Formats: sequence, C-alpha cells, structure tokens
Amino acid sequence: MRLRNVLYRFKGFYKFGSTATKLRGKVFVNKIGTIQVGRNLSIVGHPWAVQITSTKDASLKIGDNVYVNAGVGIAANKEIVIGDNVKIGPRTSIFDSNYHRLDSADQGDLSKKITIGNNVWIGADCTILPGVSIGDNSVIAAKSTVNKSIPDNVLAGGSPARVIRELVIEEGWIRE
Ligand SMILES: CC(C)(COP(=O)(O)OP(=O)(O)OC[C@H]1O[C@@H](n2cnc3c(N)ncnc32)[C@H](O)[C@@H]1OP(=O)(O)O)[C@@H](O)C(=O)NCCC(=O)NCCS
Repeated sequence: MRLRNVLYRFKGFYKFGSTATKLRGKVFVNKIGTIQVGRNLSIVGHPWAVQITSTKDASLKIGDNVYVNAGVGIAANKEIVIGDNVKIGPRTSIFDSNYHRLDSADQGDLSKKITIGNNVWIGADCTILPGVSIGDNSVIAAKSTVNKSIPDNVLAGGSPARVIRELVIEEGWIRE
C-alpha cells in the first residue's frame, strides 16, 4: 500500500491513528520518542512538506479530528499535546525547544511543554514557542508569534501575540 510505504520510510516504527487518517503529499516523520495520534488526522503535505518529529524521550500527542496544513513543522523534544478538533494553518511551526543557548549565562531548560487545547484554530505562518499553552476554542491570527500562554475562547494575534478579543463559543460548538 502506497501510504504504508511512505510511512515506513521514516525512522522507527510508527502508527498514525487507527481510523481514517488522511495523508496527502510529503509527510516526513522522525519518530524516536513517542507519537500518539487520535482518529481522523488529516495532513496536507503539498505544495510544502510537513515535518513531524518526536526526539528521544519526547512525547507528541495529537487528538481526534486534527487538520495539519501544508508546510507545518511540529517538533517535540519534551512534550507537545494537541487537543481534539484543532486546525493548524499552513507553514506554522510548533517547536517545544529553543535548541540553542542565547549566551553562556543561559542555563535554563531548552525544552518546555506546549499544550494546544481543543477546538483551537492556528492561522497561517504562526510560531508557537516552548512553554506555551493555547486555551480551548481560541484562535491565533495569521503570522503570530505565541511566546506567552493564551486563555480559552479568545482571538489572539501579533508578534508577540496578545489577546485581541473574546470569542462567542456556545457549549459544544466545533469550528468548521
Ligand atoms: C483573525 C482573522 C480571522 C480576522 O478576524 P476578525 O475578527 O474579522 O478580525 P478583524 O479583522 O476585525 O480584526 C480584529 C483586530 O485584530 C487585528 N488582527 C486581525 N488579524 C490579525 C493578525 N493576523 N495579526 C495581528 N492582528 C490581527 C486587527 O488589526 C484588528 O485590530 P484593531 O481592532 O486594532 O483594528 C484574520 O485576520 C486571520 O488572521 N485569519 C487567519 C487566516 C489564515 O491563516 N488562514 C489559513 C488557513 S487555516
């Protein structure tokens, strides 16, 4: 099966959800740590490839009905949790590590957990930085850099991202 061939070209054994996973185009997966995926994951790997990484001892959890658009990079060096019904816009990066030290005085943790709540929409060209949480139902506007946590039910945007306004979210409503 073509899909299977594509998946097994990647490092390590890996399973992408049990039902109806849709992968299109190029999806590169480096699975050294764990990757856990819910139902109905959709990944669009064209015209830009998608790269998904979980390094040694790291954990990446992706909930049900998650949509990952073209050119997205998700790299777990520690822990990334993505909730259900999340949409991630094209060319967005979600990396839980800074990878490099700023200077010799910089002794802190390079990697910090990222949590993305349920029903979150992250627009195109966003960067989600280490240690950040994005609350349930919130929207991150296009081209935002999220360096501080964002509460539930808000539109946030800019670089660095700030809350722009509260959203009206009825109980149980799921964004199309
Ligand atoms: C956020 C968005 C949905 C617009 O929502 P909206 O409620 O109609 O927002 P408005 O255009 O009325 O703007 C509300 C405020 O947010 C600001 N804003 C909107 N988009 C912004 C952005 N990307 N970055 C920073 N600020 C933004 C506006 O300037 C405005 O500020 P003001 O009140 O000081 O004028 C839209 O701007 C956006 O970013 N869409 C993402 C599209 C995308 O990435 N699609 C990819 C496919 S998933």
